[in-house]
Amino acid sequence: MTPAAPPPLLSVEHVGVEFPVRSSVVGRSSGTVRAVDDVSFTVADGETVGIVGESGCGKTTLSRCIVRLLKPQRGVITFHGRDITKLSDRALRPIRRQMQMVFQNPYASLNPHRRVGVIIAGALPKRIGSGREADDRVAGLLEKVGLKPEMADRFPAEFSGGQRQRIGIARALAAEPKLIVLDEPVSALDVSVQAQVVNLLGELQEELGLAYVFVAHDLSVVRHVSDRIAVMYLGRFVEMAPADLLYADPRHWYTRGLLDAVPTPTLKARRSSSRGILKGEAGTVLDAPSGCAFRNRCPGATEICTTTVPPLVEEPDGRAVACHHPLGASAS
Ligand SMILES: Nc1ncnc2c1ncn2[C@@H]1O[C@H](COP(=O)(O)OP(=O)(O)OP(=O)(O)O)[C@@H](O)[C@H]1O
Ligand code: SF4
Ligand SMILES: [Mg+2]
Repeated sequence: MTPAAPPPLLSVEHVGVEFPVRSSVVGRSSGTVRAVDDVSFTVADGETVGIVGESGCGKTTLSRCIVRLLKPQRGVITFHGRDITKLSDRALRPIRRQMQMVFQNPYASLNPHRRVGVIIAGALPKRIGSGREADDRVAGLLEKVGLKPEMADRFPAEFSGGQRQRIGIARALAAEPKLIVLDEPVSALDVSVQAQVVNLLGELQEELGLAYVFVAHDLSVVRHVSDRIAVMYLGRFVEMAPADLLYADPRHWYTRGLLDAVPTPTLKARRSSSRGILKGEAGTVLDAPSGCAFRNRCPGATEICTTTVPPLVEEPDGRAVACHHPLGASAS
């Protein structure tokens, strides 16, 4: 008998998060908004899964659920095969070390009153203590992210945005994680610095065997770092595929719209033939239309798209698409 395959590092099954919506006049709850709706995916050891979607589609909410900074109302999250969905903060503590988060805003995520060395040392495992060993470890981590060990004595305000994000990464690495959830880690940085930080993340992954969930709002950032990519629209995954397949042959109209918006020479031909799919704003989950939430912006929409939410259907080539009339399929 072949032994059972080990469980994935992370498994997210049918996760849903709702927030109360309050009336602005009286502050009373007037319903709920589904920020994340029935999302499922896995991450293997050492794998990078990119999650891409426009502002407000639920990326941060989902990221916070994964590291259990937020408890989802529905679904199950397992880490190393252990259900962590409802664990208490105390029971979560040792697991949290293994799943770190790097935040979008490097200016807000570091305590301005603490020296960088203290910030990083605070994330080291307890066994390292606070003496010479900790200082050496902090120095090593700073070097690992391309900074100088003597920078440990400085305060966050003395660093640029790119350097601060490197410090955020060093702090995440200090905990010796298996998984890092990176919530738009480069979107607040200059374009030239973005590439440096993305490259650094790639090098660290190779060296340390880390797994990443890499969140971005456009497909260009995650292209070269992701093994698989999920495209998210108003709370739901609409397409998930191995990265190469997704870029070469998108099946969902929204994915194609996002690709059209990526300014690279190789996509010129496709852009000129299908430019303009992504008209209008995504809106919010509050005013999403019935049926397929993308239908107001979709040139391929038909009657069924107004009445029926398309389920995410897996295809034999390893991708999954939620569309009644996927691109590249024979007319139906
Ligand atoms: N604490 C909260 N209370 C109420 N609504 C919230 C809360 N947090 C998020 N939302 C709503 O949930 C939806 C998803 O928000 P989220 O921040 O997860 O999106 P996002 O994809 O990360 O957006 P961005 O790209 O702007 O960071 C939005 O409509 C947002 O207004
Ligand atoms: S289900 Fe319909 S509206 Fe939604 S993406 Fe597919 S064709 Fe467009
Ligand atoms: Mg966000």
